[in-house]
Amino acid sequence: MSVKAFRGEILHFIEDPALTSCQDKAQAEQSSHQYFEDGILLIENGKVKQLGSAEAMLADLEDAIAIEHIENGLIVPGFIDTHIHYPQTEMIGSYGEQLLQWLEDYTFPTEKKFADKAYASKISEFFLNQLLTNGTTTALVFGTVHAESVNAFFEVALAKNLRMIAGKVMMDRNAPDYLLDTAQSSYQQSKQLIEDWHGKGRLQYAITPRFAPTSSDEQLSLAGQLLKEHPSVYMQTHLSENLKEIEWVKSLNPDCENYLDVYKKHQLLGNRSVFAHGIHLCDAEYNDLAQSNSALSFCPTSNLFLGSGLFKLDVAQQHNIKVGLGTDIGAGTSFSLLETLKDAYKTQQLRGKKLDSLQSFYLATLGGARALDLEGTIGNFQVGCEADFIVLDYHATPLMKLRVEQCQTLAEKLFSFTILGDDRAVKGTYIQGELAKINHD
Ligand code: GUN
Ligand code: ZN
Repeated sequence: MSVKAFRGEILHFIEDPALTSCQDKAQAEQSSHQYFEDGILLIENGKVKQLGSAEAMLADLEDAIAIEHIENGLIVPGFIDTHIHYPQTEMIGSYGEQLLQWLEDYTFPTEKKFADKAYASKISEFFLNQLLTNGTTTALVFGTVHAESVNAFFEVALAKNLRMIAGKVMMDRNAPDYLLDTAQSSYQQSKQLIEDWHGKGRLQYAITPRFAPTSSDEQLSLAGQLLKEHPSVYMQTHLSENLKEIEWVKSLNPDCENYLDVYKKHQLLGNRSVFAHGIHLCDAEYNDLAQSNSALSFCPTSNLFLGSGLFKLDVAQQHNIKVGLGTDIGAGTSFSLLETLKDAYKTQQLRGKKLDSLQSFYLATLGGARALDLEGTIGNFQVGCEADFIVLDYHATPLMKLRVEQCQTLAEKLFSFTILGDDRAVKGTYIQGELAKINHD
């Protein structure tokens, strides 16, 4: 049995600070989280055993337990990225195009390389090290159309004992021949990957039709069938990201009321379905997402980089739709969820809305866990949760230190992390209580 204790400033969320059902906003914010200026996080066999103030817990802690002291830092649950493409790591910051041209010019040629498993393994290793460097401990990840790209990814993630969700892209039309599967082969290969990987270690599988334009009706219908046959697996895809894309989806599906309807027709909505972007949605789509308990992934660095539009966070929240954050590498411009929160704040400013820092940290942790239907497993420090956590450094840079010294409140300090923070702000990433070994080769 392994027991460890970490002592220092600790924050985690137990509820959504923006919960609209609560009349009093100040009270909703207060009861959304637990914050200990001098706290102890006690971990047994990789899971949270107890959390409390040092004063209350020290008396009962056995002398033999080693306590690691965290100074000038903040312990929070590991960040959760609800939308990212690992094969696009090397093409981050590809210049000049909006979604559809960007896919043709940069994305498809890059993804072609992942037919080679050795290459896929090498990039998986690099990618997972990037996630850990940035404090992301769980992600919902796209592979490529090649089953081997997912085998490679899961092998590396398993060796690092990570909680990761990933899937093979299903794509049988409107892409270069070299990246196409067929409805039948995508069904068979996805099924095999589910059998091989879903539930192994902390790995889980996501059925992954790329987006409506690149899947035939037959393929989407088989994706729906797979989901029915394996109700504990996830479904991830893209939705209403770009106006030209939406026009294209309408022209391909004249029988459907709206974009989401294409997925709904094939029974792809549900508690474990995550739709990336959802920028340009109509009321019927918001209602269907809410009713089916599906989640949206908000990817602000990507939405700005591709000029896709501004996600309506407040509207999604008013509809009680689960929302997580996504970096959407390689359309997104950073692996850091802190940088993602900076752009999230700015996108809401452009809409005349505020995104406060408690809400931001909720989205990066418990909000992400809820979007992935993993509350109680990750996302906060409730007893029994897996102890994936990070230490954020108030002294990460001279500027951060100077700024934080001026802060009066926790909310101000958190806001400084979201505006000034990046990977330098992540002092340590712990996986089930163990400091992750990050390889920077
Ligand atoms: N829509 C379909 N494929 C993609 C992709 O790879 N990235 C983004 N941002 N949107 C997509
Ligand atoms: Zn994407």
